[in-house]
Amino acid sequence: MTIAGLVRADLRALQPYEAAQQVDDTIRLNANEAPWSNTADRFRRPLNRYPEIRPGNLARQLGEYFACDPSRLLVTRGSSEAIDLLTRAFCRAGSDNILTIAPTFSMYGHYAMVQGAAQRTVATRPERDFEIDVDAVLEACDERTRLIFVCSPNNPTGTLMPRPALRELLERRGEQSAIVVDEAYIEFSGEPSAVELLEEHSNLIVLRTLSKALAYAGARCGAVMGPVEVIRILNAIQAPYAMSTPVVECVEDALRRSAIDEAKGRVAEIVAERERLMSAMSSFSFVETVWPSAANFFLMRVDDGNAVVRRARDEGILLRDFGASLPDCIRVTVGSKAENDRLLATFARMGGDGS
Ligand SMILES: Cc1ncc(COP(=O)(O)O)c(C=O)c1O
Repeated sequence: MTIAGLVRADLRALQPYEAAQQVDDTIRLNANEAPWSNTADRFRRPLNRYPEIRPGNLARQLGEYFACDPSRLLVTRGSSEAIDLLTRAFCRAGSDNILTIAPTFSMYGHYAMVQGAAQRTVATRPERDFEIDVDAVLEACDERTRLIFVCSPNNPTGTLMPRPALRELLERRGEQSAIVVDEAYIEFSGEPSAVELLEEHSNLIVLRTLSKALAYAGARCGAVMGPVEVIRILNAIQAPYAMSTPVVECVEDALRRSAIDEAKGRVAEIVAERERLMSAMSSFSFVETVWPSAANFFLMRVDDGNAVVRRARDEGILLRDFGASLPDCIRVTVGSKAENDRLLATFARMGGDGS
């Protein structure tokens, strides 16, 4: 059995919505569209027409960008939508579960709850830099664990799962679960994407997004990549015309060589700023730990998390804390050099040296 066999039985034969045909140089009286173009319409493809049911050209461009055959890729509204689609496809309400590795991105648990699936968690330990223990992950699974979410680099810890550990998980769990590697922040790690393992591991699914390294969070675009049969089923579940014409066109532009080169330069700047900020933070006496990070943020523990977040807020800077789940821990997103300087100046005013 392949992981397509783990998809809900009632969905396995689901066919995509049959959209009205779109044929160039024809009079289109088959889709109840308006026959005129609004003067406010500034797009290359006229907005009075529905977009393609799935954006073929964009899928090809994303396939090239992520080094993945388009047959293994579905374009999604950010990776958030991919998490939702996967949970709906694989988990029977009231019966199946997902496994997450805490602390991690809360959206996995959120969509599991929406779907009526249980969430199992396995903890990582701060004193071991949140390293993933493959034995512990495998032990926490049962025969109804359909999806194992591995966020690498992980939000909010910044931890990268080393390739040998990922291979071990893929091999030892086999086709009993789909292993979903969420690579929202992979560009900041300098490490290769797990996409290159797709041919070799038929239980692997990889999520990517344009929201972070490409600075396109507002466009809502990402991709899920995996076995052809799984992609076929996700395609059948996804809403018809999910990607709107404005989004398709602006993302096509973001994938031009010059735009990608610009983004690469920016990623290098963010990584350099991350290192500067992390080392400066370590010198404040009220900063107790700064964990290593492979992302565009890092996690640190301070003596009084509430007080630090409040002081920063009073000075117009938003930081993220996590309440009781990670006491006194703060996640800092790396901003522009000027923003980071403002943050450091704010910390200096809180005392604790930092010079
Ligand atoms: C780990 C991780 N995955 C996925 C997402 C969702 O990103 P998007 O839906 O913008 O692609 C985020 C957003 O912060 C994230 O941190």
